[in-house]
Amino acid sequence: MKVGVYDSGIGGLTVVKSLLEHRLFEEIIYYGDTARVPYGIKDKNTIIRYALETVEFFKNFELDLIIVACNTVSAYALSEMREISKCPVYGVVKAGVMATANALQNKEANILVLATKATINSKAYNDELESLKFTNIQTKATGLFVPLVEEEIFDGAIVDASFEHYFKSLHTPDAVILGCTHFPLISPALQKYFGENTKLIHSGDAIVEYLEKVFTFDKKFRNPKMKFFASENPDALKAIAKKWLTKRNRSF
Ligand code: DGL
Repeated sequence: MKVGVYDSGIGGLTVVKSLLEHRLFEEIIYYGDTARVPYGIKDKNTIIRYALETVEFFKNFELDLIIVACNTVSAYALSEMREISKCPVYGVVKAGVMATANALQNKEANILVLATKATINSKAYNDELESLKFTNIQTKATGLFVPLVEEEIFDGAIVDASFEHYFKSLHTPDAVILGCTHFPLISPALQKYFGENTKLIHSGDAIVEYLEKVFTFDKKFRNPKMKFFASENPDALKAIAKKWLTKRNRSF
């Protein structure tokens, strides 16, 4: 299968990392809308417009599947994308919620959703979690984490200060949904902050778990073909992809 992976920027590479580890696809076409990142502060109509332009772009590749790695797009534009796409389109929000449900024993567990302002305002995570009868949901828009990750600042004083700023009045959660592609990169720091008993839910692993339920993957692809596209400075995206994706063990 040939898959297109779409994100607003470099963060979707965390999803590509999971796809590579599970060797699901023969070919991966990545598109990061680096000229217009961040999406998480934009309004619904703008996000839908960008998403539809991306579907048109992907039509050049005869894809079997599009994965929307971006949570913000998954929250707002999936049905519009599906209307004009020639292949199925899957997003990470539903997958993340299914993975959370698999990881937790009881419906009263305290779930913290971290995401961009747009994703939190959409209530997409609340709706999916409530449809599975979860009752104890906290949400927090943590947009500051996006530029930190874009700057490759994954831990240290600035990250600690941002945690203190966002989390000081919260109850310790049983699970944290990393509801933004960029957040897995600061997951070691988050795990340290919340402690080992808090489960972190990663969109990339969640979408793999989800797709493995929907499709039968009979072959494993050790060396998939990969192409990377960006709306601005594709060389910078390729350099980051090389750095993050060729590391044997991931820290996120
Ligand atoms: N990729 C976006 C997401 O997963 C985060 C970055 C942005 O604001 O564009 O929600």
